[in-house]
Amino acid sequence: MRHRAQARTDTPQGWRDYVVPQRWDAFTADDHAVWDLLFARQVDLLGSRVVRPFLDGIDLLRLSHPGVPDLDELNAILEPRTGWQTVAVTGLVPDDIFFAMLSERVFPVGNFIRTVEQLDYLEEPDCFHDLFGHIPMLADHDYAGMIEHVGRLGGAAIAAGHGERVARIYWHSVEFGLAREGGDLKILGAGLASSFGEAHFSLESDRVERLPFSVRRAVRTAYRNDVFQPLYLVSETVEATVEEILRTDAEELLTI
Ligand SMILES: [Fe+2]
Repeated sequence: MRHRAQARTDTPQGWRDYVVPQRWDAFTADDHAVWDLLFARQVDLLGSRVVRPFLDGIDLLRLSHPGVPDLDELNAILEPRTGWQTVAVTGLVPDDIFFAMLSERVFPVGNFIRTVEQLDYLEEPDCFHDLFGHIPMLADHDYAGMIEHVGRLGGAAIAAGHGERVARIYWHSVEFGLAREGGDLKILGAGLASSFGEAHFSLESDRVERLPFSVRRAVRTAYRNDVFQPLYLVSETVEATVEEILRTDAEELLTI
């Protein structure tokens, strides 16, 4: 990974090599039915247990429209709003490529969706995780700016040999973070918002730890990507975490 990162410092546009056509027309009736099933089930499950900007994003981006979203149609709403666009990729992209995309307000979306037999088990993120979990928050102006900043920090940290520092910040906020909102504990992270099993678990289980989010704590907290999290970091508010991450520059990050 580090070697790849160094090799690509000469080609800052290298992320474009990973972009593929979404081929929306190739999604079958079964694929669209899986999206509709997942969407209805997850909206019902989340109710108001997810932060407000997420719910607003679902509405603003018209994600409740039936079927797998067409990225061109989605971008036609998202890009004028916050400058973000989605692109299709075939699966997970290397960390340096991922952060390079984020730094240019480009979010990669898997060009496939799980089958009905795989509803709750995924080897790697599909378009339901990427689109339902991540994209609503990119309609929020402040959060959208924060994710771009995370991309820049990621590039700098990888170049310095410490990519894991930004991966942990990302994990404990954007992917698996919780946040307080009006005194209530809510889901913030896309990995939780898009998960049938872990959404309620993260809020309600008494077998996990929940500690206040700070950039310092996130950087120092390793994570597991193969089991439910044993520890969740809780943002005091979404706005507080956005501000703290935006205040963190690459130099400071490397000294934490
Ligand atoms: Fe994700």
